Amino acid sequence: MALNLDAIGKKIGPLTKEYTWKDVVLYALGVGAGFDELEYCYEQKLKVIPSFSIASVFEFLAEVAGSSNVDLSGVLHGEQDIIFHTPIPTEGTITSEGAITHMYDKGPEKGALVVAEAETFHSNGQKLFTNIFTIFSRKDGGFGGDPGPSEKVEFPDRAPDFEEQANPSPDQPLIYRLSGDVFLLHADPEFARASGFEKPIMHGLCTHGYACRAVIKHLFPGEPERMSRFRVRFSRTLYPGESVTTQVWKVEEGRAVFRTINAENGDVVIDQGIVEWLSADEMERRKEWGAIRFDDRVAIVTGAGAGLGRVYALELAKRGAKVVVNDLGGARDGTGSGSEAADKVVEEIKAAGGEAVANYDSVATPEGGQSIVDSAIDAFGHLDILINNAAILRDKTLAKMEPENWDAVMDVHLKGAYNVTRPAFVKMRENRYGRIILTTSGAGLYGNFGQTNYSAAKMGLIGLMNTVNLEGEKHNIKVNTIAPVAATRLTDDILPPDLFEKLKPEFVAPMVLYLSSEQCPVSGAVYNAGMGYFNRAAVVTGPGAVVGDGKEIPTPEAVAASMDKIKSLEGAEEFPSATAAFGPMLDAFSPKKKEAVTADSGGPTVSKIFAGMTSVFQADQAAGVDVVFQFDISGEGGGSWQVIVKDGVCEVAEGSHGSPTTTVKMGDEDFVKMITGELNAMSAYTSGKLKIQGDLMKSQLIEKLFKF
Ligand code: NAI
Repeated sequence: MALNLDAIGKKIGPLTKEYTWKDVVLYALGVGAGFDELEYCYEQKLKVIPSFSIASVFEFLAEVAGSSNVDLSGVLHGEQDIIFHTPIPTEGTITSEGAITHMYDKGPEKGALVVAEAETFHSNGQKLFTNIFTIFSRKDGGFGGDPGPSEKVEFPDRAPDFEEQANPSPDQPLIYRLSGDVFLLHADPEFARASGFEKPIMHGLCTHGYACRAVIKHLFPGEPERMSRFRVRFSRTLYPGESVTTQVWKVEEGRAVFRTINAENGDVVIDQGIVEWLSADEMERRKEWGAIRFDDRVAIVTGAGAGLGRVYALELAKRGAKVVVNDLGGARDGTGSGSEAADKVVEEIKAAGGEAVANYDSVATPEGGQSIVDSAIDAFGHLDILINNAAILRDKTLAKMEPENWDAVMDVHLKGAYNVTRPAFVKMRENRYGRIILTTSGAGLYGNFGQTNYSAAKMGLIGLMNTVNLEGEKHNIKVNTIAPVAATRLTDDILPPDLFEKLKPEFVAPMVLYLSSEQCPVSGAVYNAGMGYFNRAAVVTGPGAVVGDGKEIPTPEAVAASMDKIKSLEGAEEFPSATAAFGPMLDAFSPKKKEAVTADSGGPTVSKIFAGMTSVFQADQAAGVDVVFQFDISGEGGGSWQVIVKDGVCEVAEGSHGSPTTTVKMGDEDFVKMITGELNAMSAYTSGKLKIQGDLMKSQLIEKLFKF
């Protein structure tokens, strides 16, 4: 099977993982730390070994292997480069997101490289580290691609400045694997022998942890948080119990090169190592890095002369952004204009030491929108953030809503957002970075008497967001929507006076700043915000019901009789796109799917899956295939099934086959999850939930031969 070149650029994640101090300590023990380095092993004053970062995003690596379709029987972890942005906290939730960035072709006999990059953020909002993974796939070369760059570290022509010997225990992989990499090769003697090794081998990433400890010990002892980069190439395997020596050459202040050798036979097991670290001064500056900052970012805030927009502009500028303060300066109903509102906010920003320019154009015309974006480019050279916030009100009930009032509100809110977002999107796309905020309202999300025009425009913005979200994804442009509640000119005669006091716009701004920041991993979401209370609003879709048989048109009476099921939101889902939302409708009428997994009203079970297996068999994919898959599914709902594919025909029978080509072993619940798409096959395999014996290559045919 060939590499899936289409996987390049496709987003992987967000993958979220929670960890506690115990995970940090378990990792440290797994990479050989002990009483000598108690700071890594004892919860009092605990510090995280920086290489923990790769163990903590192991699932990402599994996803990369899965989506690139590498031939698993020839895969090795080639290189790992980690850039550290802030010290890793000892507990929390981390979210990693990234993509495969390159696939390089080293030649038909030489293999291929799959390179992926992931950024990881902590639940405290800080960007922790960037991992650049290189998977070496021995059997996937020769697809005609670029061979890629070849970078080489020059080791100085002198003895190493430092050497650190370590003696991993013969049982080391059994501890290390508890940090996530439970691949059988490191624990199962039978599997190791079948893979050509005399016994289970050390995880390359375990030796990587030893090397990381060694360089810290000699270059910046006791201060792992100073590490800013750690790059290695994995070159040889190592058996547990073999001693290793890490050799380090300091090439300049803040940079060293290193390698780790098998102390017993001199084999280089980790090669081409580069470590970089920060000086004490840089560490001081780094303390600021964790904060949400907008240095070198350029933001436009429309309608920033008053109310919420003014506060957003001030807060962005306080944190380093250069701001275009746009405001038409008219009355609440949109009549009139003036430069005073925008100018005053610009003065306030400058008085506080920030940078800003005023713009007085109306968002209500395409020319105005273009000119607002041009202001940002002319003054600051680029554009990163757009907050669509400008507002007018012309409240009337529907019966009294004349077209001019309808149009005026549409023009500022809905068309206004289009007018500015379009040229802004074009600029952001050029830079492959953007954050766009749209402003909706409870009136749009939930309805408000007397605001038909405003409600319609505000809900229209959610539609705009949904599609800009899809179009911006590959350009790293994130778009979200805020539904604020705040005391401003817009609400001074609507909100009760006692509430008005508590509803300072400052309480909304933190969410808008977060959504505007580099740290924000979210896109396509709507948040309510006011008084310091925040929640998410979303469109969800119920599971629904099939009325009739999908051939005869059902009667309205039949629909009425099924309304209980149709309107139920039990088990409701959010869909990322209209295409995805169409899926359940298609599936509802797919006879294969129904037979395969929903033979009765209950959910899918292992026996139902095998009962429907022949109906999901893809005969057109089976030319020349001659295999026997043995499935041994453990657990209460499990059993043994043999699936024989030969001459384009598939037969399924209960029981065990005498000489299967490939045997698949799995727990019943995991098996159902994997078949229904809840569990990724690759992560099931690498996490040990899915075990494969016999011909590993042939197991990859299962996905091709059966479309569940
Ligand atoms: P605001 O009336 O205090 O500020 C809006 C600003 O937009 C004004 O300074 C105005 O001059 C400017 N503006 C109006 N038309 C413009 C145009 N064509 N071009 C450029 N600027 C223009 O309003 P507020 O409350 O700060 O509203 C901010 C956003 O939040 C609006 O989108 C509003 O619909 C939304 N919102 C506010 C709520 C609240 O409780 N204040 C509730 C729900 C939504």
